[in-house]
Formats: sequence, structure tokens, C-alpha cells
Amino acid sequence: MNDMTPTREQREASLEGMGCKRKRVEDARFTQGRGNYVDDLKLPGMLHGDFVRSPHAHARVKSINSEEALKVPGVLAVITAETLKTVNLAWMPTLAGDVQMVLADGKVLFQNQEVAFVVATDRYAADDGINKVVVEYEPLPVVIDPFKAMDKDAPVLREDLAGKTTGAHGPRKHHNHIFEWTVGDKDLTDAAFKKADVTIKEMISYHRTHPSPLETCQCVCSFDKISGELSIWGTFQAPHVIRTVVALIAKIPEQKIHVISPDVGGGFGNKVGAYPGYICAAVATIVTGKPVKWVEDRIENLTATSFARDYHMTTEIAATKEGKVTGLRVHVLADHGAFDACADPSKWPAGFFNIVTGSYDFPTAHLSVDGIYTNKAPGGVAYRCSFRVTEAAYCIERGMDILAQKLGMDPAELRLKNFIRKEQFPYHSALGWEYDSGDYHTAMKKMMDTVDYASLRKQQAAQRAAFKRGETREIMGLGLSFFTEIVGAGPSKNCDILGIAMFDSCEIRLHPTGAGIARVGTKSTGQGHETTWAQIIATEIGIPAANIMVEEGNTDTAPYGLGTYGSRSTPVAGAAIAMAARKIKAKAQMIAAYKLEVHEGDLEWDIDGFRVKGLPEKTMSMKDICWAAYNSVPPGMEPGLEAVSYYDPPNMTYPFGAYICVMTIDVDTGVYKIERFYALDDCGTRINPMIIEGQVHGGLTEAFAIAMGQEIRYDPEGNVVTGSFMDFFMPTAVETPHWETDFTVTPSPHHPIGAKGVGESPNVGGVPAFSNAVNDAFSFLGATHIQMPHDYWRNWKAAKNLGVFAA
Ligand code: CDP
Repeated sequence: MNDMTPTREQREASLEGMGCKRKRVEDARFTQGRGNYVDDLKLPGMLHGDFVRSPHAHARVKSINSEEALKVPGVLAVITAETLKTVNLAWMPTLAGDVQMVLADGKVLFQNQEVAFVVATDRYAADDGINKVVVEYEPLPVVIDPFKAMDKDAPVLREDLAGKTTGAHGPRKHHNHIFEWTVGDKDLTDAAFKKADVTIKEMISYHRTHPSPLETCQCVCSFDKISGELSIWGTFQAPHVIRTVVALIAKIPEQKIHVISPDVGGGFGNKVGAYPGYICAAVATIVTGKPVKWVEDRIENLTATSFARDYHMTTEIAATKEGKVTGLRVHVLADHGAFDACADPSKWPAGFFNIVTGSYDFPTAHLSVDGIYTNKAPGGVAYRCSFRVTEAAYCIERGMDILAQKLGMDPAELRLKNFIRKEQFPYHSALGWEYDSGDYHTAMKKMMDTVDYASLRKQQAAQRAAFKRGETREIMGLGLSFFTEIVGAGPSKNCDILGIAMFDSCEIRLHPTGAGIARVGTKSTGQGHETTWAQIIATEIGIPAANIMVEEGNTDTAPYGLGTYGSRSTPVAGAAIAMAARKIKAKAQMIAAYKLEVHEGDLEWDIDGFRVKGLPEKTMSMKDICWAAYNSVPPGMEPGLEAVSYYDPPNMTYPFGAYICVMTIDVDTGVYKIERFYALDDCGTRINPMIIEGQVHGGLTEAFAIAMGQEIRYDPEGNVVTGSFMDFFMPTAVETPHWETDFTVTPSPHHPIGAKGVGESPNVGGVPAFSNAVNDAFSFLGATHIQMPHDYWRNWKAAKNLGVFAA
């Protein structure tokens, strides 16, 4: 070896493969204003569409008069449900097996529902046109409370379903009922409750909120009348699925539909579904023959396209007096709004809520979920969440704290006593999942040691004593959360969307000079896929990550994939990337053997190429193999070096984490302070520790927002009272606490690189940590459960209700 020969460490480092804190390659354009978003697109002759929306939450639409609107300079057309009926598009199918009005057909069912679509030469003219459309409404009684929606004499919301006693997921019990979903063994669970020494029962609500990405939902549709091709640029998290849905409902051959997701400014579940804006823009371009742009404003985004949570969970736990859990019983009233447009895999009406047994070894459990219609916006999207796992984690983590309180036990001790043990994996949960791997005790103990849990409890006891003596008006809470996630939807045996299995895909092409392109079926909305996907390839085949370009989001070039949401990208597409790389490596080995004149079996892999076993100086680098692939492959072999993989995962992955929040609350003002927040995440093999940290910071910030104030709230008339960022809590750097992050590594045994997802974990685990901190603080004053969100006003009210101002 001469001095110029790189060491093994240098060769390894130059790849910037898995485990490397590689800087995000996409940030160069994002931080310099050079991103390419939908609203940056300007096509010649492009028109703009905008909606007339309903001021009422429930009303009959008596008439729509467009005469004056059509006189506004620049306004070209006003599309209503009657127009859409001529092309059979007045209603559209939802992902949950329901149908949804595209434009109001006879009545409106939620405030800001789309009533008419005004098409004009520019957005201002469209807006002027909207103000001139005259709609005559006859208001109807409004139902906002899902419990009241099930009253015998509650108003009938969905008249189109009159007489239908069966829905997409079985029998309907009531005119405002959508489905009932049950899982688990009821008899065994009832028996466990009869035998239990201790039981708890609490109604735990997870309020309605919204993903509110920085960039709202938007699209540009352009129809070429000559070729019959429809191009759609949109903020889509799953562009291939959108292409298939458009083909099915617009009856345009799928090869003539081009869907492109350019840069997307945050998704968080908001951009999975299909919205009336997409349909109306598509119809408008077909009718006018000109490109049509539709861009939501903030109020429209918050009030009309999707929502999250709105789960009301009656939670019961049975246990022995020593604190061993023996049964879990949960009933959920799920408010789905006016149409069941939940974005879940088709067979899962309540998503993966049956992960509700969490990290604990429950011998038996029973769950039932009732989906209900109300006069609220439809949606039910997984806001940084894997299909209702966030609600499930909140339910069980609050439940465990309530049980600890009743038993007079420390919540950490209760958790340690009931965790699924390391040797029990793969673990079959009472509600039907097979957890792949976990080491919960190690993670919990690491968290407790790092923050010195015992000292924190002593500090809390001292603070409580001082409060009693009247020396302070602050109370202190320790919020624990130990969550188990379920990500990587999903195996074709149980996951599909509209009949399409939820696999994902990657195509890798290597070029002669040792560079290449990877096209993947996912779509980054800020997670840094262009950076991390190249790192997987770098480690697998020894080509530097910097030499691999990653492309996503164009249905003409990317292999069919099911998109990015529910932290599925790493578990599913990440596996497809590794498998495609391995196919390339196998061919590369044959080429290297031919060139080195040895048998393939005589070669071994060494960081960035092959070497002959026992003859370390006889090597061929991957870079040289790329060149050889284009000029001297073994006789009979096709030239080139490329591969494609469609990966159907055998199971989900189950990341987990141990979080603690230390909070103080001033009882006189309700003002809280996050003194400390520590988050330990285990997502198996870590591809890029820096990106993981960024994901955890972002997810924790959203969890903080949701737990401490972010809410979509309605008044009794169905008006959204939190429809802008003036009222909807969106934390900035000023309010956001400091995050301490940590990790353990428990690889997934079935994933080719052992990786599990991480993007949503901090949202799933963070919310219960904040809420448990508030509840732990108030438990000392006698509270059992205070509903979220815990804003200043509600904290103050909780203190008042607990009698702290009695003196
Ligand atoms: O589906 P989504 O991209 O939202 O979530 P994810 O699969 O959890 O990935 C989020 C980001 O974290 C991606 O850039 C991943 O490559 C990265 N990640 C990682 O570096 N290591 C992991 N074990 C999991 C995710």
C-alpha cells in the first residue's frame, strides 16, 4: 500500500452510507428559494379556479344563480353539481368505501363545503366571481356532538343513504351510523374484568385537529384535446394512487394520465386523499381546453380538506392488586364528519387502532369502534400517524397512568411490570398483531437513568410540599410515555388501497462512470428521501451516495408505488431499495468474476467492490464494474447494470420509544413551562442519525402543539372557530421547547437492512407524554383525567374546578 492508497475507513467514509450524518442534499435548493412547488408552475393560458363555499354547516341548497358572476370580467365558467352530473362526477368515491359530494348536491353538510367552482383568467377575477354567485340556503338542524348524532331523533344527515342498513364495513345501527368494527375476545375480556382486583374506566377524548402543512393542497390540471392526455401536477403524497383513481372515475385510459408531485411543502397525511379541488380543476381543463390551477388558502385548508383524530375512547383496564394487567376493554365513538373519507387501508375502518394494547402484555382485550356522521368536515387522515396509532397510544398511555394512580403505584414501575419482555418477540398481541422485535426494559431504564427519574420524583414531592405550605403556586408533573408503533403498511395479506396491495418499489440504473439514478415509488414531503435513499444504495453496492440521484413523484418515470405516509417509506420502499441494490450486486459479482478470471464463489464483498478470497490485492471496484457492464460482460449476459424491485413486506415494523416530559404549571394563570423533554427512540437500524433527529424534533413540536392547544373546534351551529392561524395553535421557535434526543437500536428481523420507520414516532409518543405531565401535576390536587388540549385557559379552569382558589 503506498501513501496515496485510501484506508478502509477513508473508503467507507467516502461512501456516506448508512449510519452517516450526511447533510441533506435537497436543502441546497430549499434554503435558497429554488424549490419547485405546484404554485411555481405557470403554464401558457393557465386559468384559475376557486370555490364558493357554504356558510352553513347543514342546509338545503334551494338554488344557485351564476348570472351575475358570469358578467365579472375574466370569469369564464361557474361549475355546479348540475354541471358535474353531465359527466357523472357530482359525487366521488372515498378511500373508505363511502361516496362524497364533489359540489353541493341538494344540501350542504359542513361549513365551507364546496358549492360551486368559479373558473377565471386570474385568481382575483375568480374571487370576484365567487362573491357574485347567489346561493339560496334553507338552514337545517346541526349535529356537532357525535354522541348526540346517535340520538333516536337526531336529524338525518346523509339523506342519500336513506334506507341503507349496510355500509362498506357491515351493518349500520342508526341513520347517522357508518360502521361498527370489533376485534378481540369479548367473553374472555368480560371474564377478566369480573375476576379483577382493580379496574379503571375513563372516557379519554382525543380532540379534532388538523395536519396544517405549510403548503396547502393544490394542483394544476392540463388536458390536451388532441392527444387526450391529462397532466396533473399536485401536492400528492401518493401520486400513483391518484393516477389510478383519476383513471377509474374520469374514465381516461391510465397511460394517458400523467401525475407529477413536484417539491411538496409538508404532507402529514393532509395530501393523501382526493379532494373536490382536484376533480373540479380536471373537469375545468377538459371543458375549457386550458390548464387550470387550484390553490387552497389557509382557511380552506383548515376547515375543508381533511382533519385528524376526533376519537372518544371509553377505556377500561383490569388488573391484579399487584399491578399486573389482565384485560383491556375499549369502546370508541369515532367522529368522521359528513362523509367517511378516512384515509386508511381499505379493510381497516378504524385504521390500526387495534395496536391499543401498546407495549404491555395484555392476556386478553376487546375493542369496538362506532363510526359516526356529523356536520363536520370529512377526512380522518393520519396526521403524522400510522392510521389511528396515535389515538391508540394516547388511549393506553393515559389508561396506564390512571391505573397507576388508582393502585398508588409509580407509573414507571407499573410499565416495567407489564412490558412485553425481550424474549417474547415475535409477540402476538391480544388484538391480532405480530410485533417483530423490541427491548422495552432496556429503553425504559436508559431513559430513567439519563434523566435521573428518582431525583425528579423527589423534586416533585418537595414542590408539592412547598405548594401545600403556600410557598409556591406552581405544581409539577412528570409525563411518561412508552409507545409501540406499527408502521410499514403494508403486507398485501392485510393492506390494500382500493384493491391495490401496499407494496413499494425502486428502480436503480447505474451509468458507465460509476454513477446512477434511483427512482422510488414514495414521495418525500420534507423527510429527506433524496439523501437517505442514496445512503442505502451506497452501503449496499459501494457507490458513493453523492453519485446517486434520487427521483420520486413522477408517475411516468417512477415504478408504481403506494406513496409516503404513516412512516411507511423506510419499512417498505427502503426495503425495495436494498433489494434492487442486491440484484445489481449479484450481476456485478458475475461481471467481476469474469474480469478477474475467477469463479463467482471465490469473490467476497469489501466496502466498495469485490476482492478474491485469500488474494486481497486482486480486486475490482464497483466503479470499474459499472464501466465493464457497458463494454465487456460475460458471454451471453445482457449489457447494462440496472434492477427493479417491488417489495411486499412480510410484516409491519414496530418502532418504540420512551419519553418523559417535566412540566410546571402556575395554577393562578394556567401558564405552563416545559422544564425538560427527553425522547428516546428505537427505529432499528439508523440510516441517517441527523435526519432521524430532525424527524424527532419536528414530530415532537407537532405533539406539543396538539397536546397543548392545537384544535379544530366548532360552535353549536357548526361554525369552525379555529379556522386560521390566529386561533389554531401553530408553535413557532419562540414557544417550542428544547428537545433532548437519544436512541437504542433493536433491528427489525424481517427488514433487509433492519430498519423501522421513525417519522411519526415523536407525534405518537409525544402527545401522551405532555398530557400525562399535565395530569400528573393535577393528580396531586385530586384530578383523575383532564381532557386535552391543555392550553392556559383550560389549565386555569382545571385548577379552579379542583378548588385551588378556595381561600
Ligand atoms: O414515510 P416517511 O418518509 O414519512 O417516514 P420514515 O420512513 O420514518 O422516514 C423518515 C426519514 O427518516 C427518511 O429520510 C428516512 O430515510 C429516515 N430514517 C432513517 O434515517 N433511519 C430509519 N431507521 C428510519 C427513517
